[in-house]
Amino acid sequence: MPEPTLEIAAAAAALRAGRLVGMPTETVYGLAANALDVRAVLAIFAAKGRPSFDPLIVHVADAAQAWTVARPSARARRLAQQCWPGPLTLVLPRLPTIPDVVTSGLETVGVRCPDHPLALALIRAAGLPLAAPSANRFGRISPTTAAHVREQLADAVAVVLDGGPCRIGIESTVLLPDPAPIILRPGGLTREALEAILGEPVAVADRMARDASLAMPAPGLLASHYAPVIPLTLKGAGQAWPEGDGLAYLSWRGHGLPAGATRVEILSQRGDLTEAAAGLFAAMRRLDASGARAMVAESVPDVALGLGINDRLRRAAGLG
Ligand code: TXA
Ligand code: MG
Repeated sequence: MPEPTLEIAAAAAALRAGRLVGMPTETVYGLAANALDVRAVLAIFAAKGRPSFDPLIVHVADAAQAWTVARPSARARRLAQQCWPGPLTLVLPRLPTIPDVVTSGLETVGVRCPDHPLALALIRAAGLPLAAPSANRFGRISPTTAAHVREQLADAVAVVLDGGPCRIGIESTVLLPDPAPIILRPGGLTREALEAILGEPVAVADRMARDASLAMPAPGLLASHYAPVIPLTLKGAGQAWPEGDGLAYLSWRGHGLPAGATRVEILSQRGDLTEAAAGLFAAMRRLDASGARAMVAESVPDVALGLGINDRLRRAAGLG
């Protein structure tokens, strides 16, 4: 293991002292705390304004560390071996090492090994599993740069490690692997890739099923998520863009935009879903800050990373 840099060492010391750290990952930035320290984990919920019934993901440096907090099945071992480090969170039976606050009292815990050198170095230097939700205020747009983290959570963190813009740009895929694999949240690892690895179909949970699996007290409560401050509506497929002063447009490829529209973000002119995911949240933030009174967004094709992008757009529009 290489020597941790001074910055990593300081961040690791802060974590061991129960403080919070802004941690870059390949998906989005996380707000990290020692997953074994109840008070530190409670500080995450307080800093985000996050309801205590929404469980946190535990980040580990490798599969061996994951199996100190969760019990793997054969399928989980296989996925961990093939997909980690990477944008896959496995929901597995928890071990008693993990405090109730992390899992919101569920008997399962979400674990993932992030594919980012700074995150891995931090977890190793701290010598701890790290609970980390996305480092945004609850319900707001997830951060894909260190500056985004500081904008919303500067007061809550001891340090923000700057790993540059996140490579993938949307959160990890949350998968319940057993008894049959089902995606609870589409994200950075595609359903197609999971099916190829497992050699079996992988289902995608609808909202209600997902809320039921989490035993949420109020299904639908979390429908508004990843939301800008100004209202966002989703343009129907085949519909024309609405026109009007003060509208901001979040476009897939730049097709059919109203003449003279000034506040425009194009996710990928060449129709590349990887590029679209990487730029999605930053584009939403720019339009949010553009002075527009409302935002109109367009769905992308519902395949590969498009599943995760469309999920974020629907939630941002309050549609769940
Ligand atoms: O890419 C990511 O996953 C980022 C980075 C920081 O790793 N983290 C992230 O965390 O997106 P958060 O807290 O914003 O989203 C975690 C999601 C939530 O939808 C939560 O309900 C779900 O994972 N989750 C966590 N533990 C779960 C469990 N035991 N059962 C079902 N869902 C769970
Ligand atoms: Mg989040």
